[in-house]
Amino acid sequence: MADAAVTVRPARVADAEPILQLVNELAIRQVMLPRSPASVVERLRDFWIAEVDGAFAGCGALAITWTDIAEVRSLAVHPDHQRHGIGRRLVDALVAEAEQLGVPKLFAFTYVPEFFTRVGFARTEHEQLPHKVFNDCMHCPKFLACDEIAMTRELAQDPGISPLFGTPQRSFPLPRCTPGFGQREGGLPAGD
Ligand SMILES: CC(C)(COP(=O)(O)OP(=O)(O)OC[C@H]1O[C@@H](n2cnc3c(N)ncnc32)[C@H](O)[C@@H]1OP(=O)(O)O)[C@@H](O)C(=O)NCCC(=O)NCCS
Repeated sequence: MADAAVTVRPARVADAEPILQLVNELAIRQVMLPRSPASVVERLRDFWIAEVDGAFAGCGALAITWTDIAEVRSLAVHPDHQRHGIGRRLVDALVAEAEQLGVPKLFAFTYVPEFFTRVGFARTEHEQLPHKVFNDCMHCPKFLACDEIAMTRELAQDPGISPLFGTPQRSFPLPRCTPGFGQREGGLPAGD
């Protein structure tokens, strides 16, 4: 590995299969969430690929949630190549793309906060994230019992960019929600 050439590039359609294999293999070990073939193929342009000597070694995706925030998703490095700086290289590529797009903030839900801390993220509470980021959570089997840790990283902002619906800090006046927000004490009021 010491002399191996590591490259990071945008995904191509041929990468869908190794992405699915790696992510779902790691998901079986309960270290990340699984993805369906359709969700990978439809979002293929979100993905970046790391290669070691030209062979697939890892992936990560940047999913734009709103004009002021994007998610680092499905970040995975093959177990044979972990702890050699590849995860950091993938995050660097996602950060560079987010900055180029003018996205001012990234978030991630993770079981490895130590890694995300090393690459510039800070731990936050789920409640501090805007409503919009939980849309995808509704499709997650762990929606009512989320045990992932929320992390965020502020990015360099292009002062010329005017985000849709107000400033990046106060996007729009939707109520905050948390995983499990549908479980109100005493059940839902009549008519809900
Ligand atoms: C988490 C993961 C992507 C990290 O990739 P990686 O290539 O092994 O990480 P890197 O070698 O780039 O590590 C960057 C830094 O984070 C640290 N780090 C990496 N994994 C860590 C861990 N599990 N615990 C603590 N620190 C960790 C490294 O020591 C390194 O520290 P340094 O800044 O002192 O050099 C990879 O281990 C992985 O695929 N894990 C399984 C899937 C997963 O948990 N994905 C995250 C989903 S959100």
